[in-house]
Amino acid sequence: MSKKIFSGVQPTGNLHLGNYLGAIKNFVELNNDKQNECIFCVVDLHAITVKQDKDQLKNNIRETAATFIASGIDPNKSIIFNQSKVYAHAEGSWMLSCMTPMGWLNRMTQFKEKAGKDKEKASVGLYIYPILMASDILLYDATHVPVGEDQKQHLELTRDIAQKFNKDFNCKDFLKVPEPLIKKNFSRIMSLKNGLKKMSKSDPSDLSRINLTDSEDEIINKIKKAKTDSLPIPNEEQKLKDRPEAENLLGIYSSISNQSLDKTLKEFGGKNFSDLKNELAEILSSKIIPISNEIKRLINDEKYLDKILLDGANKAEQIAGKKIEEMKEIIGF
Ligand code: TYM
Repeated sequence: MSKKIFSGVQPTGNLHLGNYLGAIKNFVELNNDKQNECIFCVVDLHAITVKQDKDQLKNNIRETAATFIASGIDPNKSIIFNQSKVYAHAEGSWMLSCMTPMGWLNRMTQFKEKAGKDKEKASVGLYIYPILMASDILLYDATHVPVGEDQKQHLELTRDIAQKFNKDFNCKDFLKVPEPLIKKNFSRIMSLKNGLKKMSKSDPSDLSRINLTDSEDEIINKIKKAKTDSLPIPNEEQKLKDRPEAENLLGIYSSISNQSLDKTLKEFGGKNFSDLKNELAEILSSKIIPISNEIKRLINDEKYLDKILLDGANKAEQIAGKKIEEMKEIIGF
C-alpha cells in the first residue's frame, strides 16, 4: 500500500545520532520504497520557539537539508523544504489552535521539560508548538509519520485534533488521522554520559552525543569515554534491566548494524565493554563519516541547497495551499 509520509526536523544545529537512528535513517528507508510519497520538512518555525541567532538559523536550515540529502534522501523523489516558506503551516496552526482545548496542551510532557521551572517565562510558541506540528502533518493528508519515541505524545495529540476538527465541523474524514511510525526498538537513543537521559542537541556536554558532523577521531574518543558499568556484557535481554548505559550502547550497535539486540548480545555476551566499544566506534565511523563528509561538501554549495528548498516549497505549497483553502471553506471564511 502506498503511504503518504510527512516528518520534520528542527534546524537547531548539532544533529546527532539520536536524530539519525530515531528518525532520519527511517526517512531514508521510506524514501527508498517507490510506492511512498514522502515529504521531509526543515521545521524552522518550530525552531524559533526558543531564541535563535539569525545567521546561525540560516546556516542550520541549509545544514539540516544537507543532512537529509547526505543521509540518502533523494530530493528528486521526496519533497524537501523549509516550513516558513509555505504560509499554510502557520495559518493552519491558528485555525487548529482555536479548536484545541488548553487542557490537551497542559498534558504535554515535552513542554514541561523544555519550559523548566520558570514556565511563566517560556514563550507562548513553545506552549502551542504541538499544534503547529499537527498543522504540518494534517495539511498533507499524511498517513504515516516517522519519528523517535519522544514525539509519540505529540502525534497522539495530532490524531485527537484531527478527529475533533472533523466532528466539530461535521466533515467526516476531511482531516486524515495519521499513524505514528515509531520503531519498536532503538527509537530512544540515550546520552553517552547518562543512560537515563535522552541524547539531545541541548546537552551542554558534547561528549554526550555523536554529532553527524563529527570526525573519526571525535567518534572514537566519545565512544571510548562513554559511560558503562563494571559488569561484563550479558547474553540475554532481561539481564540488561537496570543497566541503562549498557543497554544504550548495545542498542546503538544493533540499530546501526541493522540487527536485533538478541543477535548483538550473542556476539558480545561475556565480553568486556572495551571489545564492544572498539567495534562500535568502527561501525559508527564507517556509517557516519561518509554522511559527515557529504554534509560538509553540500553546505559549501548554498546555491544547490537553496534551489532544492525552493523547488520543495513550491511543490509543498501546491498540496498545503489546496488543503488550507478547503479548511477555510469548511470553517466559513
Ligand atoms: P526534533 O528536531 O527534536 O527531532 C527530530 C527527530 O529526531 C528524533 N529524535 C530522537 N530519536 C531517538 N533518540 C533520540 N535521542 C532523539 N532525539 C531526537 C525525534 O523524535 C524526531 O523524530 N517536533 C519535532 C519536529 C516536527 C515534526 C513535525 C515531526 C515538527 N513538525 C511533523 C513530525 C511531523 C521535533 O522537535 O523533532
